[in-house]
Order: sequence, then structure tokens, then C-alpha cells
Amino acid sequence: MIILAIETSCDDTCAAIVRASGKIRSKFKILANIISSQVEIHRKWGGVYPALAQREHKKNLLPSLLQVLNKSKISNFKFLISNKISNDKFQIPKPKIDLIAVTIGPGLEPCLWTGINFAKKLAEDWNLPLVPVNHIEGHILASLAGSNPKLQITNSKKNFPAVCLIVSGGHTQLILMQGIGKYKIIGETRDDAAGECFDKTARILGLEYPGGPAIAAAAAKITHRTGRQIPNKLPRPMLNQKNYDFSFSGLKTAVLYKVRGMKYEEKKKKKFIQAMAKEIQQAIIDVLIKKTIKAAKDYRGKTIILGGGVAANSELRKQIKKKFNNVILPPKNFCTDNAAMIGIAGYFNWLKGETKSWKKIKAEANLRIK
Ligand code: KG4
Ligand code: ZN
Repeated sequence: MIILAIETSCDDTCAAIVRASGKIRSKFKILANIISSQVEIHRKWGGVYPALAQREHKKNLLPSLLQVLNKSKISNFKFLISNKISNDKFQIPKPKIDLIAVTIGPGLEPCLWTGINFAKKLAEDWNLPLVPVNHIEGHILASLAGSNPKLQITNSKKNFPAVCLIVSGGHTQLILMQGIGKYKIIGETRDDAAGECFDKTARILGLEYPGGPAIAAAAAKITHRTGRQIPNKLPRPMLNQKNYDFSFSGLKTAVLYKVRGMKYEEKKKKKFIQAMAKEIQQAIIDVLIKKTIKAAKDYRGKTIILGGGVAANSELRKQIKKKFNNVILPPKNFCTDNAAMIGIAGYFNWLKGETKSWKKIKAEANLRIK
């Protein structure tokens, strides 16, 4: 079957066309995957500004749809792109699509609604079923499919339980997975998400948004440490607590206090920024890895599945692989938000019969996976 997927939960407007088949062993082919990034717009705010993100989604959705339809060779709508048709009044002939999948949460409510309303209009115009998708499940299943060169997912008992660490700008969750569609949150952040910590500490250091890649790049410049470069060791919040929860706001505050007390010339020095970046990155990685390995041991996890934007971090990937011998790591472009992951998760929801009348689908900003 051919699925059109729409994802607008945060600051990227994403559309994809995915071909899916199989039940126990499901196979996917991504026919087109478009990400219309808003990074440049949000950069000056140092984070995502929801009203701006929603405005951009409204602008970008239709061109993104036309692009994926063209790119996947399902239809050819080039003439429509050049005519600049209006966003709410467009009428597109029905392409060869069987299902529409859309993210309903968790995420920024106004952004979610923009994608949902767009998907509803298409479902109504084309008389197609619409499946709601949980963004976090999208990350998990994208990791599972993306780590296989043929984009296959085998939903067999022998691969589970798995412990999933989903780390992004909005979420940090440890999820016990007993199979596709069988999840339990066993730990999560009590305040900031890990990606948010990267973004906010990067801003304190004067690095650009998004902070994760900026911190990783600065940290990579330090190959060995000399005494003067080492900043005060930063805290590893909740590292030794027996639960699987996280907390990152104290780390951010520790960085803020450290930098605040310094002279302007000192805190602008490249070596200082690089050393701080390395220490921030390591503090975040230490906590993520320790809690994830503990969960994997306690729950006898056969695999650890990493997903979400922070899972693109090379040091995290390298270090977790050294600690556990069965870590599922998707390619980096499958870690950050995209709509192909929503198409993949949408397919499994459709297999379970979760298509709803499009009228009933609504945004759920705080949706929890289960
Ligand atoms: O999953 P994602 O694209 O969007 C959300 O659902 O939030 O994740 C974005 C987050 C941002 O906080 C960004 O700084 C972080 O992922 N990120 C990284 C890296 N690439 C993206 N963090 C650390 N290292 C990276 N290489
Ligand atoms: Zn995400």
C-alpha cells in the first residue's frame, strides 16, 4: 500500500510517501521524503517559537505535498507549484495513495493542528482513511526500520523486550517495548529534555541553534585536554538514583553560573567554549547511558533502540555501543524529525485497524505512548 505521511509536531514541515507491505515481516520503501526546515527562522530566538512555526507550516505544507507527489512519481503537479495556488482552497486530483498518516502528538499544539487540518482536508477530498500517529512511536519504528538496509521490521517475540531511549528536543523517555504497539514508559525527564539541554547550554556559550550539532562540533575540536582547558566538572543529575528518570535543568543552570561569573574575554575564548562543550556533551551522555543500560539489565532487554534527534550524536552512539552489544542505531538522517517515520508507524496502526473517521482526529500535545 502507498501511504502519504504528514509531520508538523515541532519546527520542521515534513511530508513523505512510503510504500509498505507485510505483516509479521514488514517492508518499507521510501518513495519521497521532504523536510522543510525552519532552522534559519528560529535561530535568532535560540529555540522554537510556536506561533512562528505554525505560520511556516501553513506556508510549507502544500508545496511539500506537491514536492513529494512529484518526487515519488505518483503524480505530476509541477503546473500547480508554478501557479502558487492558495493553501486552503487547493483542490488536487486524487493520486494513487491508499492511506494518509498524520502526527497527532506529542508536540506543539498549534503546529500539530496545522498538519492535522491539512491531512483531514486531503482525507475528505480524496475519500481516504486517515490514521493518527504518535510522534514517539514514529521515532522508535524509524530506528527499527532504518537500522535494516532493506527497511524491514520483524515483529517477532524473539526480538523483544527492547528498551528504547528516545531523546530529542522535546522528549527524553525510556520506553519498554514488548512488540510493535506494546509500550510502557519506564522513565522520563522531570524537566528539560536532553536536546533542550543541548540547545539551551549552546545558547549560553554563544553557539548557534540547534545546539546539539553545534556542541558536538565544538567538543570534537578537543582531542586531548590540558589542565587549563578543563572547566569545573559539571553535575550529572540523578545519575545514581535507582529510578530511570532524568533531569537536565540543573546541568543547564550549572553552565549558566559558570559562564556568568567569567570575564567577557575569558568566556569568548575558543578553547574555553570547546572544553565546556565537551564537558556538557559528556555529562548528558553519562546520564543517558547509565540509565539506559540499567533499564536494559533490569528488564532483560534484548536490544536497546536509540531514536530522536539526540541519537544522531556521534559520541553517544560510539559510547553506548561499547557498553551494550545489541544497540539499534538508525542512520543519522532517520534520527531527526521526518515524515517517513510517521508513514511507517501509520502502517502498523492501519494493520491494527486504527483508522478513524477524520472528523474524530484531534491534536494531543501531551500524548503518551502505551
Ligand atoms: O527529534 P528532533 O529532530 O525534534 C524533536 O522531536 O524535538 O530532535 C531535535 C533535537 C534538538 O534539540 C537538537 O539540538 C538535537 O535534537 N540534536 C542533537 C544532534 N543533532 C540534533 N543533539 C546532539 N547531537 C547531535 N548531533
Ligand atoms: Zn522528534
